[in-house]
Amino acid sequence: MKGIVLAGGTGTRLHPLTNAVSKHVLPVYNKPMIYYPLSVLMLGGVTEILVISTPSHINQFRALLGDGSQLGISIEYAEQPRANGIAEAFLIGADHIGDDSVALILGDNIFHGPGLWGLLHDQMREIDGCVLFGYAVKDPERYGVGETDGLGRLISLEEKPVDPKSNLAITGLYLYDNDVVEIARGIRPSARGELEITDVNRAYLEQGRARLVDLGRGFAWLDAGTHDSLLQAGQYVQVLEQRQGVRIACLEEIAFRMGFIGSAECYELGRQLRNSEYGSYLMSIAGSDR
Ligand code: G1P
Repeated sequence: MKGIVLAGGTGTRLHPLTNAVSKHVLPVYNKPMIYYPLSVLMLGGVTEILVISTPSHINQFRALLGDGSQLGISIEYAEQPRANGIAEAFLIGADHIGDDSVALILGDNIFHGPGLWGLLHDQMREIDGCVLFGYAVKDPERYGVGETDGLGRLISLEEKPVDPKSNLAITGLYLYDNDVVEIARGIRPSARGELEITDVNRAYLEQGRARLVDLGRGFAWLDAGTHDSLLQAGQYVQVLEQRQGVRIACLEEIAFRMGFIGSAECYELGRQLRNSEYGSYLMSIAGSDR
């Protein structure tokens, strides 16, 4: 399975924070925002990842993440020149996807919860159609919204409905079989001029091939698109990391624990950052295994 992180957009709701830098490199406590969605793909075992961003921001990601080899993965880059919608990622990323299935994650979505690794592995194994992840929220009108029948099967999908049929938001992690490229080529821009991810998902739903997995209430799904939600996301990570002494979305640690790199490489990555607690943490987890 290939991976795409979509880190486009101009982040206008975060101005002036985003006047000069991409929203997706802003700090969520002690690491750049894009680490969080990237960590989800890596936990799912995805090692070939395309990062899509605007022409003016793409080099910030190159500087931050390089070609991914230090993490034992491959990271490539592509530009989305205009805000033409999330579904354009499949057109921009068609060559990257090739004949494979694909996991798309939005660069400002943060997932954290028990069993994420197992959940991803179960869902990513064999994809026929698409898999969406639902999460109950207080303000569903801000999101794509899914409606389910009594058995939890998905029956409708709407993008930012004024009058939502349920409180189940469709989160920014989407798994698709290879048909997604053809489906995305077939959809037309919405009233707001964007190729909507919800239209792609609806096409799968009409074919009876869209599945919804409810993440459940023990899980945290945060977005970091406003000043308040950005600060709250940082505080969430700070509280858990300080309480438990472990790191959330630490890419080097995940690369090490997933077997993409060995303990010597992990230690060296920590040594390069040794003036920070982040670096000390990496050296200690790698060291305890050496
Ligand atoms: C987008 C999608 C929406 C989804 C949300 C998740 O909204 O259009 O369906 O629920 O991401 O973060 P946007 O962030 O573009 O408002």
